[in-house]
Amino acid sequence: MKKTLLILGAILMAIAVQAKNYSISTPNTTLIVTATEGEPLLFRYYGARAEMSDIFAAGRTVKQEAYPAYGTYCEKPFASLVKQHDGDNAVNFVVEKVEQGTVDGLSKLTISLRDTAHPTLLVKVNYSAYSDCDIVKMNTEYINEGKRPVVLQKYMSAVLPIQSDNCVLLHLDGSSKNECNEHIEPLTNGVRVISTQSLSQMAKYNNASFMLGLDGRLEETNCPVIAGSLIWMGNFHFEFHNTLQTTSPTLFMGGINPAASDYTLMGKRSLATPEMVFTYTNNGKGEATRTFHRWARHHQLLDGTKEREVLLNSWEGVHFDTTPESLQGMVTDFAKLGGEMFVVDDGWFGPKYPRNNDKTSLGDWGIAKSKLPNGIRPLIDLTHKNGMKFGIWIEPEMVNVKSELYEKHPDWVLRHPDFEPNYGRGGGQMLLDLTNPQVQDFVFKVVDDILTENPDVYYIKWDNNMGMRNASSQYLPKALQSNLQVDFTLALEKILKRIRAKYPKVVIQLCASGGTRLNYGFMPYFQEMWTSDQTDAFHRIQIQWGALNFYPSNMLAAHVGSAYSKYTQRLIPIKFRFDVASMCRLGMEMVPAKLNPAEREYAQRAIAEYKKIRPVVQQGDLYRLISPYEGDKNLTSLMYVSENKEKAVLFAYRHLIRENLSQPIIRLQGLNPNAKYSIREVAPEFVNKPVKISGKTISSKMLMEEGIVMPELTNRYKSNVPLSEVRATNDWRSVVLELTEVK
Ligand code: DGJ
Repeated sequence: MKKTLLILGAILMAIAVQAKNYSISTPNTTLIVTATEGEPLLFRYYGARAEMSDIFAAGRTVKQEAYPAYGTYCEKPFASLVKQHDGDNAVNFVVEKVEQGTVDGLSKLTISLRDTAHPTLLVKVNYSAYSDCDIVKMNTEYINEGKRPVVLQKYMSAVLPIQSDNCVLLHLDGSSKNECNEHIEPLTNGVRVISTQSLSQMAKYNNASFMLGLDGRLEETNCPVIAGSLIWMGNFHFEFHNTLQTTSPTLFMGGINPAASDYTLMGKRSLATPEMVFTYTNNGKGEATRTFHRWARHHQLLDGTKEREVLLNSWEGVHFDTTPESLQGMVTDFAKLGGEMFVVDDGWFGPKYPRNNDKTSLGDWGIAKSKLPNGIRPLIDLTHKNGMKFGIWIEPEMVNVKSELYEKHPDWVLRHPDFEPNYGRGGGQMLLDLTNPQVQDFVFKVVDDILTENPDVYYIKWDNNMGMRNASSQYLPKALQSNLQVDFTLALEKILKRIRAKYPKVVIQLCASGGTRLNYGFMPYFQEMWTSDQTDAFHRIQIQWGALNFYPSNMLAAHVGSAYSKYTQRLIPIKFRFDVASMCRLGMEMVPAKLNPAEREYAQRAIAEYKKIRPVVQQGDLYRLISPYEGDKNLTSLMYVSENKEKAVLFAYRHLIRENLSQPIIRLQGLNPNAKYSIREVAPEFVNKPVKISGKTISSKMLMEEGIVMPELTNRYKSNVPLSEVRATNDWRSVVLELTEVK
């Protein structure tokens, strides 16, 4: 048998299947499976790139079912469970065909598995590899060739056996205002599950990304690491098996969460499961992070290599008090600080029920004339007159019960018809039922109307402030209710594709009560994610650090709030707040008029300086130096290095001041090893008073091997020196250094 198949404009060769090892490779990694016609597919290896003969000779292979199913692997972890129309739920997948070739620039290996018990059921297991970065992708595709429906009860995307019985797991959990808490823990014996079960705010509580240190440790450098992330806008489920049940000591599987998600696949239909991306490196988790970031900027994040603007968002400044005066003042004041964009957040809409609080108006996307009598046009014009771009907030997947939309279409929400729903934010918010094509048109129209009426709107903030509380689509038939999780997510994707087909350029920020939708599945449609509503800069360090494990700095929006955080009641000086926000995409979220003159002067300088370091911060390689999660260090430090290593930016943050603090040594990473770098402090606290190291030229050998000490991070103001207007406390000291290679 030798047949050529055309798939997506690419050529895949169907290959005769005798027992054979098949591999795909990235520049530094290799993945191997063994396929024998009529037998189960076996997973053999994922690790450093090497000759196949060496990998086998060294014994670095596993022999594990590559896509185990309930039927012949019932006592072991199974990735697939399928119920036939007659109730039979056992399958026996065996290899039918292997295809290998290049698809969309990726080298791809597809193995078709046929169920011998129900030959109309086919599963394609897909592996693909990038040639410009060490990322492989995996997913599966279920094809029901029969006439009758089958029910997919577990349909994982990826199965990855790992030859290590001593793994250390890094994962993120948290919730609104406390996203992305980093946890590092040994993968003890048993089964570890990480999952979320909501089609909305699917990254609330847990994030669909992980890292595994394979050698009993998970370090920044010199350590074997596998990292993975599921690309999906809906619920997810990861299983880490560390048991003697499997022939490989550790087994990972991930995909859509099967909980309450039985998927009825009609006859002659197929379902492609979401892709998972993985990277392997023996250079530690630092390298795993950098690989994810580079891949994201070049392959996954919309406009991933384009510079992001410094913006002011109105939310923390005025909340729902969106009057012409309050907004105009923000525009003109921010322009004076050097701002590049103004974004009007929540509170501008609701013709019948003006949006004065979170209890009304979602769904009614006309102007609240009682608040903005002349609409938003004068504000857009003023923003442009001040040399800035304009952006606007919407939450198009939601409705308030008190709205004209709900009055007209009470059947457009997710709820069970027979009992009172559980309302969301404000006591009256509900999720629109995106499976309904009329609702899909409506959501598209929300964006379309705004951009048709105001083609000069440059940026949209797309918010989502409610997780999935209520089961039941009022659109799907009863028998298909458990398709909701998947069909809702696919419908959202369809809407986003439609929006992007018409509006490819508009910048859209994804927000979900902060960062509760942080997932790569969204990022072909959004340029950035609002990382968190947390306004306390110290708290934000941990959140941003956690998120940066997997997601690049230019995808993560970070804003400077006012000195006093209402959430933690901490008072943090303006420099520290700017320095924390400047590690990602910088913005502000306050009323600039409330800054005192010294703070205003500082803000102006800090924005101007950010613009200078922006190319390195937004596009550079991240090196983590000292973690905020190492509490006893009381210090955080990280740096970005440009691709050509000519420029670097170092951030160092001292948290609390104490008497007799030891001077921390910060060892830099990632620089050109045989060079010298001149050092300049970025936005010192006081003009012309940079830290001592500023102005020095130091060899990279010294910087990386011996490190630097900055006493300014530790010294407190002498008691006879009054604290300034910009600094009300001795805590929260920070230094940002720009390093330039001396030629
Ligand atoms: C939640 C978001 O995270 C905030 O930034 C803000 O946009 C509010 N919603 C507005 O209601």
